[in-house]
Amino acid sequence: MADRQELTSRAGRSRGGSGEGEASGLSDRMGRALGDLRISVTDRCNFRCVYCMPREVFGSDFKFLGRDEVLTFEEIERLARVFVGLGVRKLRITGGEPLLRKDLEELVAMLASLEGVEDLALTTNASLLPTKAEALARAGLHRVTVSLDALDPERFRSMADTRVPVSTVLKGIDEALKAGLTPVRVNAVVKRGTNEDQIVPLARRFRGTGVTVRFIEYMDVGTSNGWRLDEVVPAREILDRLEAEWALEPLDPRVPGEVATRYGYSDGAGEIGVIASVTRPFCEGCTRARITARGEFFTCLFGSRGHDFRAQLRGGASDGELTETVRRIWAGRRDRYSELRTEANRGRRGEEESTPAPPRVEMFQIGG
Ligand code: GTP
Ligand code: 5AD
Ligand code: SF4
Ligand code: SF4
Repeated sequence: MADRQELTSRAGRSRGGSGEGEASGLSDRMGRALGDLRISVTDRCNFRCVYCMPREVFGSDFKFLGRDEVLTFEEIERLARVFVGLGVRKLRITGGEPLLRKDLEELVAMLASLEGVEDLALTTNASLLPTKAEALARAGLHRVTVSLDALDPERFRSMADTRVPVSTVLKGIDEALKAGLTPVRVNAVVKRGTNEDQIVPLARRFRGTGVTVRFIEYMDVGTSNGWRLDEVVPAREILDRLEAEWALEPLDPRVPGEVATRYGYSDGAGEIGVIASVTRPFCEGCTRARITARGEFFTCLFGSRGHDFRAQLRGGASDGELTETVRRIWAGRRDRYSELRTEANRGRRGEEESTPAPPRVEMFQIGG
């Protein structure tokens, strides 16, 4: 049985994440190193997940970025090189749906050959993985994380709002496994009243396959999804549902500052994770920097405005100037949005407790 204290004590978590950034001496106002960079390559997506791009807001008349507005592969590579020079060891390619970006394998190859990159991952909805997994692996991608919130076709449609069938996503996962894009992880957002009945089926489907499912508390990212606190299924409840079926044991974090809290099946059939960013925020160990498809640099998923790297790149900035910019912004970083939200909502319930809404960057712009 999982220790109930674990979710509240977060044993093993420490500041400064991977510690890689510490080697370069770069640390923010709360002593957190710069450890990973997440790069969005497009704001487009062929899904309309209700918690990310609700169709009422992102309909056929929504204007996505034009070709000249998104960073080129060369611009992305240059920025990545600067970040790696400052201690980043972990890169994640995200979107929107990154596999919609033409010739993405070329960018993968460019990033894979950067000296110092130890982990190169891709977040995808897997709809195009059946045809692209092998080429991505050949280009040097290490692993994929697949977003999948339901197995039941009806439930899947009610979350992802797409014509792509769930069977294609499952095929994409199989192809990723075959291509060696491992460890493959599945991220499942849980939204009250929509897919909490899929928690156990998802866990059962991937138990014993080597694929780890991580259940994510629905978050108030952006300002379009109409987030309400009472639609969040707390990690504790997710664990209770799983523990009614299987015995689980808490596992130690693999790296300090890990986003997911891990549990192993007591019978050895693998592990699951919960990402409790609402009920148990993890800002304390947050080492993540993010770049949007149009080249804005954010130091928090919940930021409102990012630094315009695109203007700087296209204005002829040198590598030294770009490096100085990252240093300056990271050194001044104080972000701890999720912790502040939790403090503000503590003890409250219901509709009126949604978070105050200054314009915030949307998840499909900044990547998950
Ligand atoms: P691994 O290295 O595979 O463990 O992945 P990761 O730690 O980079 O996490 P991943 O990209 O799979 O993120 C999973 C989900 O966690 C995201 O889709 C978000 O919902 C949430 N998440 C990730 N990073 C952050 C963060 O910095 N803040 C908050 N609040 N949520 C985050
Ligand atoms: N809350 C939690 N996770 C979200 N994601 C997107 N929007 C939200 C949200 N509001 C996650 C998806 C996907 C990744 C791109 O971001 O699960 O895995
Ligand atoms: Fe697309 Fe991912 Fe957002 Fe769903 S969560 S709409 S798959 S970017
Ligand atoms: Fe990091 Fe911001 Fe998420 Fe906190 S809310 S973990 S500071 S990205």
